[in-house]
Amino acid sequence: MHDGQAWIGPGAQTTYEALLEETEALLAPETDWLANLANTAAVLFHTLPDLNWAGFYLHKQGELVLGPFQGKVACVRIPWGRGVCGTAAREKRTQVVRDVHLFPGHIACDEASRSEIVVPIIQGGKVWGVLDLDSPYEGRFSGLDQDYLEKLVEVLHKYIDWRIACGTT
Ligand code: SME
Repeated sequence: MHDGQAWIGPGAQTTYEALLEETEALLAPETDWLANLANTAAVLFHTLPDLNWAGFYLHKQGELVLGPFQGKVACVRIPWGRGVCGTAAREKRTQVVRDVHLFPGHIACDEASRSEIVVPIIQGGKVWGVLDLDSPYEGRFSGLDQDYLEKLVEVLHKYIDWRIACGTT
């Protein structure tokens, strides 16, 4: 993979279809939110190519707090609306960032990161957190990643009680 090249094509689609099935099979028998988010982060990180970080931030009392992830240590708390993660949460819209250096307020946890995709986790109209993937390559993420990662979040809704994960019960 090179800078400026998105991971697309039939191979990528097949990989994502298999990943959705694998995630569903992995989560289905389990109801523990921490185990399920931890395994989802591991599946993503070890299945999708050219990532240097994959994980979750959870909405806790008005900010995003680091959840299960794979990759280098990351910043723990992200204010609502700050960085790519905070922007996805505030705008309730997936952010596909071609070059993080051009994103105003980008929070650099790993200086190797060049591109990023952040999908908000929204259920019942509420933002419960975000799914965040980083790549060391510029332009790594495309609409294909967006479509499938949004589908993956739909799968998570079935097996994760976000009120428990976010400590709001
Ligand atoms: N880059 C993110 C912060 C989280 S790390 O990438 C793991 C942001 O700007 O919100």
